Amino acid sequence: MTTAAAHYAATYDAALQAGRLFDHSQPGDRWADLAPEFRMEPGRPLDPNLAILAGYLRDTDRLVDVGGGAGRVSLALASRVAQVAAVEPSAGMRAQFVSARDAAGIANAEVTGDWWMDSAETGDVVHLADVTYFVRDIAPFIAKLHNSAARRVMITLWRPAPGDTDRFPRQILFGETPPQWPGLPELAPVLWELGLLPEIRPLPQLPWWLPEAAGRLSDADATQLVMRLLESEDDAVRQNVAANLERLFERRADGLTPRWLHPMRENLITWETGGRRLPQ
Ligand SMILES: C[S@@+](CC[C@H](N)C(=O)[O-])C[C@H]1O[C@@H](n2cnc3c(N)ncnc32)[C@H](O)[C@@H]1O
Repeated sequence: MTTAAAHYAATYDAALQAGRLFDHSQPGDRWADLAPEFRMEPGRPLDPNLAILAGYLRDTDRLVDVGGGAGRVSLALASRVAQVAAVEPSAGMRAQFVSARDAAGIANAEVTGDWWMDSAETGDVVHLADVTYFVRDIAPFIAKLHNSAARRVMITLWRPAPGDTDRFPRQILFGETPPQWPGLPELAPVLWELGLLPEIRPLPQLPWWLPEAAGRLSDADATQLVMRLLESEDDAVRQNVAANLERLFERRADGLTPRWLHPMRENLITWETGGRRLPQ
């Protein structure tokens, strides 16, 4: 294994061992309970991040969406392309995908139930949003994305990663430094090591599932945000948070802004495949 890929795997292993990542090697559908949260109305207006993704698409494209979940991205983009082929191993996510697709009357989108390394799907554009954190052996996974895309690969991931949003509060409140998810700093060197030179583009919108990242919070809402990220209802923890609000948040005239979530951004990593195959 090469250096960046080994570092990526070690980062993944540490996070998994600390119980901070879903273990996909275990049987069962880890995503079933969360699937409804990933379902969104396919016909909603495109948010600024999706509008940027749409700018890379052509109406003749077959768009493959790896780990496509409930179709949050691909069903919203289905009217911009000829075909959508989602690949999604979670049955719970697939059920939400099918139900959202059918309710919206979308006729050009299908979903199959494979893990990406077992999938036979190919397309003009291969896309994935928030999937790479969960993949340990990342180099062959990326090579397969590349080799399955006739024109372009588009990967999006958040920085900080969604699973790391409690790290700063834990450090401030308890002196803990929990292992990080493998994210953008670990992924980018793997791509360079594979000989790719992608565009890396921070997207404008704040996290859709965490509106508090925008700030302007009251003291009570700021405290509640930290309690939620810590998954705690303990009174002693609440008092600890309240006593440390100024260290966790920047106080401005219009309210409190979380120091560690500002700015939290989705990043688009994209490149043209140019007909060149990578060893898999
Ligand atoms: C955080 S969800 C993101 C879902 C969707 N892309 C979105 O952004 O709304 C991660 C998804 O990746 C899928 N996934 C994880 N590992 C995968 C793999 N090796 N191949 C295909 N899908 C995978 C999971 O089943 C899950 O649905």
